[in-house]
Order: sequence, then structure tokens, then C-alpha cells
Amino acid sequence: MSTFDLTRLLAADHFSTALRHDVQHGLTSEPKWLPPKWFYDARGSELFEEITRLPEYYPTRAERAILTARAGEIAAATRARTLVELGSGSSEKTRLLLDALRDLGTLESYVPVDVSESALAAAGKALSEEYPGLAVHGVLADFTTGPGLPPGGGPRLVAFLGGTLGNLLPAERAAFLRRLRAALGPDDFLLLGTDLVKDPDVLVAAYDDAAGVTAEFNRNVLNVLNRELSADFDPDAFEHVALWDAEQEWIEMRLRSLRAQTVKIPALDLPVHFDAGEELRTEVSAKFRRERVAEELTAARLRLAHWWTDDEGRFGLSLAEPV
Ligand code: AVJ
Repeated sequence: MSTFDLTRLLAADHFSTALRHDVQHGLTSEPKWLPPKWFYDARGSELFEEITRLPEYYPTRAERAILTARAGEIAAATRARTLVELGSGSSEKTRLLLDALRDLGTLESYVPVDVSESALAAAGKALSEEYPGLAVHGVLADFTTGPGLPPGGGPRLVAFLGGTLGNLLPAERAAFLRRLRAALGPDDFLLLGTDLVKDPDVLVAAYDDAAGVTAEFNRNVLNVLNRELSADFDPDAFEHVALWDAEQEWIEMRLRSLRAQTVKIPALDLPVHFDAGEELRTEVSAKFRRERVAEELTAARLRLAHWWTDDEGRFGLSLAEPV
């Protein structure tokens, strides 16, 4: 028999409080910005799944290829009893790790942690049905600011896949890795997926697909604000922008106002003016090199024990251990 339960680590009003805070802060800043976590309502999570199947969006496939090739090695190196997954989303690549740990015979529990309750519930239910005997403990939490790791028998393998680390700014990344490291026991491991620096045309295409799915994903954040804060954004009055910042080595997504307009956000009593052409930054997606990953891990008292890439060197997967 498998079990699935879901724990809300956050107060019921956490999301609305955090959203209000982020919107108030970000939309009164110069330039305007919003943190990318607000993309992921049910519709946004669905659109992201669609993105992962686009021909231009290679990171998911590249990371899956690495996991397919290396899951056995990862299982053997960690002998994990608990797999914790931060930002688990649909838990699609997770099956490769679960299979390898089950085949090795060490697997007991899977702990997906995500901000999307709909994604957690769907993935948790499906996995608990697919893996007899597996205890699935879903955790609704914001792992970027939230408390330490949820409990689970050690050794634990904490997976942070998909390149989501790149959504954090460098200082946030350092703080996140330090906090994560503090929550790890001496036998625990971190499995970290990072997208790698490459031809800017390939990078930009991955964030500006021909079918316009990423554009819709980007604009969806405005629907979230409309629904949650009774704002009156017209998503069609904004165009999707994806650009490569060669100095920072990150992709930025922005929403560019097509005309001068003033949006009302009654829940915050906040009118927000956009000039024609003014841009709102909605996401940073940093791209890495092996040395930078190793350095950032070292700064957090983690040691890069294994580094794998796909055959084309597009994506990196690190296995790190506490030092
Ligand atoms: C889920 C954060 C890894 O940054 O590539 C996809 C999100 N944004 N297309 C990424 C995303 C635009 C994605 N991560």
C-alpha cells in the first residue's frame, strides 16, 4: 500500500500576503519587476508543461537524457531512502530517480515540495499509485524563503532540477544554497540541475518559441494578478520579450507595454502607470559553467562530487555533498 498526504507548511494567507508584498514592491520599483514564482497557477503550470515539449525548449530533454544515463550511478552513490524534490512540478523526471532507488532497494519515501498545489496533488496521487509501498509526502511551500527541509529518513537525496536555481539572483542563490546546506545531514546529497551557457540564438529561441507558448506563459502572470488582486491588466496590451544578458550570463523575460496605460490594482489601492514601451521584468534564468557551479557550491560548504552533462553539453547535473 502506498500513501499520499499533503502538508501546507505555510499559513493559509501566505500566498496572498507574499503576492501582495511582491506586487507592491516590484511594480513600484524602477525598473518594474515581478518574481517568477507567480507564473505557476494551475494554468501557468500547464503552460510550463507545454513549454517542456516545445522543439526550442531543450533543457527538459537534455536533463532527462542525463538522468536516464546516470540515475543508476546517482542511486549507487547516494543509497537514498528519501528523495526530496524542490520545485517538483509534474515530477515527470523524478520517475527516473525513483526507479533507480527502488531497483537498488533503498527507497522509502518521496517528498515533493512545490508552490503549486494543483501540480503537487496531481503528481503525488499519480506517483503513489505507480510506486506501491512508497510514502509520498507532498509539501506546499516556497522553498526559496521557507523553513528547512521536511523530515524523512536519511540518507536523503535533495533534487533541485530543471535549472530553477537560475531563477534566483546571485545573492539569493548564495543564501538559498547556504540555507539548504544547513538543513543537510552529513549523509545527505544535493542533486542540482543547471542550464549551461551556449549560443545566444539557441538560448533566446528556448525562451521565445515560434508557437508563442512562452509568450502566453509570460503574460499569464498578469491573469494571476487580475484574479488574485482584482487588477485590470489587459494581457494583450503587453508583448513578450526574451533577451540574453551576455554580461550576467542570464536570460531575461519581460513584458513590454504596447501603449501608455494605467492599470488599477484595487486590492493594493495602487494605480500602476506604464509608459509606451516600458518593460516589466518577470524572470531571470541564469545559465552556468561548471566552474561557477563548483564555486557557488563551495561557498555554501558543498563539494561537487560528480558533474554530468548531456552529449551536446547543453545542461549540467551536479551531485554535491556537505563538507
Ligand atoms: C522552470 C525555471 C527552469 O527558467 O527555463 C521556461 C521556466 N521560463 N520558459 C526556465 C521557464 C520560460 C524555467 N524553469
